[in-house]
Amino acid sequence: MGCTIIGCGKALPALEVENDELAKLVDTNDEWIVTRTGISSRHVAVGETGTDLAETAARAALGWSQEGWCERSLAPEDIDLVIVATITPDALVPSAAGLLRERLGLEHAIAFDLNAACTGFIYGLTVAESMMAACAPGFPGAPGRNPVRRALVVGDERLTHITDWADRSTCVLFGDGAGAAVVEWDEKRPGILSSFVLNTTDDTGALSCPHAFDAHVPFDAEGVVPSALTAADRAPYITTPAASHASEGSTEALEASPLQAIYMDGQKVFKFAAEAMTEAIHQVLARSGVALDDVACIVPHQANERIIKYAAKKLGRPMDLFQLSIANVGNTSAASVPMALADAYAGGRIKRGDKVIVVAFGGGFTSGAVLFEA
Ligand code: COA
Repeated sequence: MGCTIIGCGKALPALEVENDELAKLVDTNDEWIVTRTGISSRHVAVGETGTDLAETAARAALGWSQEGWCERSLAPEDIDLVIVATITPDALVPSAAGLLRERLGLEHAIAFDLNAACTGFIYGLTVAESMMAACAPGFPGAPGRNPVRRALVVGDERLTHITDWADRSTCVLFGDGAGAAVVEWDEKRPGILSSFVLNTTDDTGALSCPHAFDAHVPFDAEGVVPSALTAADRAPYITTPAASHASEGSTEALEASPLQAIYMDGQKVFKFAAEAMTEAIHQVLARSGVALDDVACIVPHQANERIIKYAAKKLGRPMDLFQLSIANVGNTSAASVPMALADAYAGGRIKRGDKVIVVAFGGGFTSGAVLFEA
C-alpha cells in the first residue's frame, strides 16, 4: 500500500522570452546564458495570475483537459487535500491552495500553502503522503483524523515578479509556471517507497528574498510614536539583501533595487546544490533499499543544467537517466519538479512499475528527494 501518483500536468504562461531579448535589458548574451545554465528561453506571466497557471496544470493532472497525463479522470469530490508549494502566492490570504480549491470546485478538500522554496513540491508530496498514511485503515488513531484519500500537490510560481531585472546574475535564470500531481492512497500499490527532506542553515544569506509588506509601524520600544507616521514612512521602502551587499556609500544599487527581489550568491548556491542533490538521492536509495541501477528516471529541480551534469558525474550515471526540461523554462522554483515530472510522464519516459526519484534543493536552505514506484 502507498501513495501513488496517478496524474500530472503543467502550465506555462503564453509569453516566451528568448535570451537575446534579455540582452536588451542587461549586459548579457545568449552564448553566456546557454553555456553556464542550459537555458535558452523562459516564460513570463503577463496578465496571468498564479491561480490561472495552477488551474491549468491541475485540470490536466485531474484529467479534465487533454494536456496532461493521468491514469483516469477524477471528480471534484474525489479530492480531499490541496497543497500548493509556492513563494509567490497571488495573496497571503486566501492561500494559493484555497484559491485553487475554489476555482476547481473541490468542495470536500482542505487546502493550504507550503513554502520550502524550490524544494516545495518534494515537501508537499511528503506532507500529503504523511497525512494519507496517518488516516489509512489500521494506522493508530486513524478514525480520529481528516480522511485524506486523494490529494492535489501543486508547485506554482511567478518568480519573474520577484526578480530584479537590472541584476544580470539572477534575471537570466528565472521563469514562471505551474506543475501539478494527483496522488492517491492505494492499498495494492507501493507508491512512495522513501522520502528525505532536510533544512541546512544558509548562514551567509546566499539565497534570499525579503517580503515587501513590512510597513513602517508607528511604535518604538516605549510605545506609540505619533510623529513617526509621516507620509514618507507610509511608503515603505524595503532594502533588498542585494542592496545591502552593494559596496558601501553606493546608493545606486539601493535605488535600483525593487521592493522585493531574489538575491543570490550563485557560486555558493551552486556548491550547496550539487552536494545536496546527490546526498538526497543517496538517502532515498538507502532508506528504501533500492539500488541506483534499478531507478528508471531521476527528475531533478531544473535550476541549472550544469548542476544536473555534476550530479550525474558524481553518481556515475549518464545524463539520459535525468529528465531535462530546463531549456525553454528556466528555474521555476517549486513548479520546476512537477513540470519536469509532467514532461517525463507525457513523453512516455515513466511507465507503470518504474522506480523514479524526484529531487530538489532551494533557498532556506532546503533539499530533499522522494523515491516512488510509478
Ligand atoms: N551574462 C554575462 N556575464 C555574466 C552574467 C550574465 N547573465 N552573470 C554574471 N556574469 C559574469 C560575472 O559578472 C562574472 O564576471 P567577472 O568574471 O568579470 O567577474 C562572470 O560572468 C562569471 O560569473 P560567475 O558568477 O562566476 O558565473 P558562474 O559560472 O558561477 O555562473 C550562475 C553563474 C548563477 C549561473 C551559477 O553560479 C549558478 O547556476 N548557481 C546556482 C544557481 C541556482 O541553482 N540557483 C537556484 C537555487 S534553487
